[in-house]
Amino acid sequence: MANTSKNDEQMKIPTHVGIIMDGNGRWAKSRGLPRLAGHKAGTENLRRVIRACVEFGIQYLTIYAFSTENWGRPKDEVEGLLRILAEVIEKELPELNEQGVQLHHIGRLEDLPENLRQKVNKAIEITKNNQRLVLNVAFNYGGRDEIVCAIKQMMRDGVTPEQVTPDLISSYMFTAGMPDPDLIIRTSGEMRTSNFLIWQASYAEWYVTPTFWPDFDKEELRKALVAFAQRDRRFGKLSEQDATGSKPVNAC
Ligand code: FPP
Repeated sequence: MANTSKNDEQMKIPTHVGIIMDGNGRWAKSRGLPRLAGHKAGTENLRRVIRACVEFGIQYLTIYAFSTENWGRPKDEVEGLLRILAEVIEKELPELNEQGVQLHHIGRLEDLPENLRQKVNKAIEITKNNQRLVLNVAFNYGGRDEIVCAIKQMMRDGVTPEQVTPDLISSYMFTAGMPDPDLIIRTSGEMRTSNFLIWQASYAEWYVTPTFWPDFDKEELRKALVAFAQRDRRFGKLSEQDATGSKPVNAC
């Protein structure tokens, strides 16, 4: 593990971290810059944070880059974000690959322009054997939309009511086969879930910081990880030490 202190190595590191990268617009506004300049600064920061996640030994990182609701933003901002995704894939792929990052997309790829879809799929193919960090890029993603897609697919597959369990539903999510997020970080101080991983985050720990995303550096990430390490995760039971392995009651 590079660039981490002895204390970091002893810290309880979450397996899966989700990040709502909020505050790009306000970061830009506070500097008299256009909103897209904020997204570009946010993209630069993303590169640094991915590197830091690899160094901290985080195994899954899910980033909220574009929600199903973001199509309602001004046309130039939407086009700018689509362009940024294409540029990120083109420019960053070699370094991501070198770092052992396995790229995934979550959300509806089918609504994106054909050339962008091809780029995304190619990057997924190139990085599919990497093992150090799984990076889920949530682009055209919405938690409710994901649940609707899952229900439709279950119905197509002829799943019966008796077969429906939380594990089965998880297996129909875009994140199938991955552990649920342990920690969700939201920058820029907003206290909302914003339709992000609403099924998977049922027992995630939340960490909200007033820092705007472009300024959320490795030190800020370390603070979030320290806060996470101090949480007593009870999953609805007693503390980790006191919890017994009693089975959950399924009422339906
Ligand atoms: C929310 O901030 C941020 C977004 C909607 C876009 C996030 C995108 C990036 C960080 C760029 C990286 C992108 C890709 C494609 C990998 P906001 O604009 O809502 O900020 P505001 O609340 O201050 O206006």
